[in-house]
Amino acid sequence: MNIIVHSESKTFHLQNDYISYIMTILPGGHPAQLYFGKKITDREEYGYLLEGSIRSHSAYPNDDGRGYSLEHLKLEYPEYGSSDFRQAAVEIRHESGSRITDFLYQGYEITNGKPKLEGLPATYTEDDSEAMTLTLHLADEVSGLRLDLLYTIFEAGGILARSAKISNCGTKAVHIERAMSLSVDLPDADYDMIQLSGSWARERIPEARRLSHGIQGVESLRGHSSHQHNPFIALKRPNADEFSGEVIGFSLVYSGNFLAEVQVDNYDVTRVLLGINPTWFDWKLEAGDSFQTPEAVVVFSADGLNKMSQTYHRLYQKRLARGFWRDRARPILINNWEATYFNFNEEKLLNIASKAKECGVELFVLDDGWFGARRSDYAGLGDWYPAASLLPHGISGLSEKIEQMGLKFGLWIEPEMVNPDSDLYREHPDWILHVEGRKPSLSRHQLVLDFSRKEVVDHIHGMIAKILRESRISYIKWDMNRSITECGSAVLSAERQGEVFHRYILGVYDLYERLTSEFPEVLFESCAGGGARFDPGMLYYAPQAWCSDDTDAIERLGIQYGTTFVYPVSSIGSHVSAVPNHQVNRITPLKTRADVAFFGTFGYELDLNKLSEDEQKMVTRYTIFMKQYRELIQFGTFYRLVSPIGNDSCAWMVVSEDGKEAIFAYYRILNKPNNGFARVKLQGLLPDGHYTVWSYQHEDVPPEGILRGSFGGDELMNVGFVVSDLSSGKVGDNVLEAADFTSRIYHLKVE
Ligand code: DGJ
Repeated sequence: MNIIVHSESKTFHLQNDYISYIMTILPGGHPAQLYFGKKITDREEYGYLLEGSIRSHSAYPNDDGRGYSLEHLKLEYPEYGSSDFRQAAVEIRHESGSRITDFLYQGYEITNGKPKLEGLPATYTEDDSEAMTLTLHLADEVSGLRLDLLYTIFEAGGILARSAKISNCGTKAVHIERAMSLSVDLPDADYDMIQLSGSWARERIPEARRLSHGIQGVESLRGHSSHQHNPFIALKRPNADEFSGEVIGFSLVYSGNFLAEVQVDNYDVTRVLLGINPTWFDWKLEAGDSFQTPEAVVVFSADGLNKMSQTYHRLYQKRLARGFWRDRARPILINNWEATYFNFNEEKLLNIASKAKECGVELFVLDDGWFGARRSDYAGLGDWYPAASLLPHGISGLSEKIEQMGLKFGLWIEPEMVNPDSDLYREHPDWILHVEGRKPSLSRHQLVLDFSRKEVVDHIHGMIAKILRESRISYIKWDMNRSITECGSAVLSAERQGEVFHRYILGVYDLYERLTSEFPEVLFESCAGGGARFDPGMLYYAPQAWCSDDTDAIERLGIQYGTTFVYPVSSIGSHVSAVPNHQVNRITPLKTRADVAFFGTFGYELDLNKLSEDEQKMVTRYTIFMKQYRELIQFGTFYRLVSPIGNDSCAWMVVSEDGKEAIFAYYRILNKPNNGFARVKLQGLLPDGHYTVWSYQHEDVPPEGILRGSFGGDELMNVGFVVSDLSSGKVGDNVLEAADFTSRIYHLKVE
């Protein structure tokens, strides 16, 4: 890893074993992009890559048609208003009403490691040798504004982290209307754009479309990163697949409104912009103040989508997530939500917990409904004290009883919200996000607290910290169950109302920071009506996230499959729930439900007392299985093998760091008569390793599984592993039951 600077040609080459990112400073002072892709040998200058031709109808800021037009160049942080007519990275409104800026190069700085981004989640280094950071200093002479562009190259993978900081060194306030975290201009448009999209209960399903001239992209304007679109896109070459070809991922470390936009111009140059959504964003920057954008993380892979994902997994698992739980296998939990909804009392909860303990579960989580007047979703949010009618001994009493059973105790909260029917709202009706004189829209009968106000965050912090201090709480599920509407704050001036969305999320980060610092050993799981805030910003504070409110195993295949495009298995909250499934009414075998939920943090979301004795035995087996393999599953290298999207089957696997051990999972979605003889090629094994393979096919197998035989690593990766249902059918053979929704888990280990 290195940052090479050629002073004469003003060329900067950020390079590691995987990538080269090369820029230069144009004669007029604008930073321009020269190359981003697979590592190349360094040279003094790359002037031949700069297009200087004169075209009609273009504008030339530096000369009478003889200089360069910004429109024809690949730029680092483009501005609209002079000679580039494409979408801009930055837009600033001056007191005069003008929006012209001209940020020109002033100098640079190189530091080892990576600077912190104050108040914002971001990737980090533990040792300065892990990364290097280049800061380009630019300035707009007329306004006195300064712009720092930060580029961090990591040693371990094709990773570049970027952000921008605008400082007002002038004498007049300005308004930042757009400040993207990155802009990247690529020299052609031969890409498919991949996005992770969906809706509530069907989040993060991968979709691809061929780039075409004009603008395409995804965004959120809902106040959270959203169920609808994840703050991520990838550009892949049309022939790239999971294991070959060029892919570039763009991921934003942010949990609020975002925009990921790709513009293809009429010379087939592709511009990617990623950052805070400029819609409804207007940040007043007083003289002397600075604004730091969130971070965007770009990953280049020359070896297809899996490699891109694995690079994100490693980075987000080890250098974005933090704290006590970062490297620890996650406790197997039981959550009472789908078991009871709002209909519980202490006795019922203890009953659920006690059966769970018998089956080997480690953590009991009390979900929504334990506080204030919260007997349904019409009341109580905001009143964070236990409801005496349900919990006569409070949360402290219940948590002690749960601990006495030998389980840890976890609690659900939704700190950003308030029901109009709550003491908090009656006392502080102006504490909600709202616009004076307009009726605030309700969603799930609740309103959003104005987390842009410190006193509101302080108050909620006081209540939540009290419960955490007084009770034996090992885990918090932090929910957020509505999008933001009528986004205004009672205390900000008119010209600062465009700051509320961003200030809100900064308030959320502030509360997370305070709670995670004071209670470092509490495991936080983020949640937003399922997966509306499954984003890198949240992972900085909470190393796992509830993936979706859809707990059906078959639906979950697609959701979890898509989630792994960016997010590690250790972050994916996944539970076994009851059948018929509460979201889609589907009936799937218990084994399939477990086989899907294993590929995440694993837990149960049902009352195990309601299962038959045989099923309870199976649950115990699954729990034993997960305890044995969770380290490998959650922290191994994950490979997507067969996509469930539009297919009748799905397969994935994880491999240990040394390649000697793996878990392979195969799921049949719909059975077909007279099926072909199918195999799946495995990945990541040692070619000359000799693997013994066990399966966990039947409910009555011993915990160590059924021996399937032994195979060479090269054989498994090149010939493939037979997963078909057409073999002889004798017990112990490689046969999947001829039915829909079946699955098989295999354990592979080098002898
Ligand atoms: C939405 C979450 O995703 C569910 O798991 C559950 O916690 C409910 N909220 C409770 O209101």
